[in-house]
Amino acid sequence: MSPVGINTTPLLVELSAQELRRRLTEALAIYVEAMDYPKGTEFHRAPMWTEHTHRPGWRAVAAVLPAGDDPATATETETMVGIAYGYRGAPHQWWHQQVREGMYRSGADERRIHEVLGDYFELTELHVSREAQGHRTGEALLRKLLEGRTESHVLLSTPEVEDEDNRAWRLYRRLGFTDVVRHFTFTGDNRPFAVLGRLLPLPSDGAENAHSPG
Ligand SMILES: CC(C)(COP(=O)(O)OP(=O)(O)OC[C@H]1O[C@@H](n2cnc3c(N)ncnc32)[C@H](O)[C@@H]1OP(=O)(O)O)[C@@H](O)C(=O)NCCC(=O)NCCS
Repeated sequence: MSPVGINTTPLLVELSAQELRRRLTEALAIYVEAMDYPKGTEFHRAPMWTEHTHRPGWRAVAAVLPAGDDPATATETETMVGIAYGYRGAPHQWWHQQVREGMYRSGADERRIHEVLGDYFELTELHVSREAQGHRTGEALLRKLLEGRTESHVLLSTPEVEDEDNRAWRLYRRLGFTDVVRHFTFTGDNRPFAVLGRLLPLPSDGAENAHSPG
């Protein structure tokens, strides 16, 4: 079934670092709209997204609507409706250090911290434009992004919302993500976030054997 508001099903394409940098404006527009951030946020995020493309293990996947009937000939005029990227986590990274601190403060011991943060893929961004949401495009992006990863865990952070009542939470829970840290405030952002994770690989679509991150 095609998503509401658009008349064709998105295709998933892996983007090289160069391709994402070339299409950064388009990708950031999806991010700002999906997260309901104020206009202008994209200018602050652009240098960070660009820097991330240089990190070891970086990978990005986009959901695109081909412009014509033939997807094979429409790559240059397609419209991006979803973007997901991440990279291999490492101890010198800010996010890693913040999560480590959050785990420590919430009572995790060194063994547990090492188990979770020792070998993971950070799902840094996952966004689908409003008109395309609710039709498993987010799930498909996430599955493709995680396909064949060699890390033992995947971790992400997402804003806390009451009763876990939004699409992001429903998606992550459905795919077996469990709590690593809850109600955590990253330095420089007052909003509470949850850090969620799970073991890799993801079970195939339809399988119900969800794993906890440890
Ligand atoms: C989070 C996000 C990427 C998910 O993308 P999506 O394409 O909407 O996600 P999916 O369709 O794969 O899954 C979410 C919806 O599909 C439903 N769904 C998917 N598969 C289903 C199935 N087999 N059976 C029943 N429902 C299903 C989910 O319950 C949910 O629907 P609902 O919220 O209407 O109940 C997207 O909604 C988004 O960009 N949100 C705003 C930005 C954001 O929060 N990003 C994540 C920040 S960490």
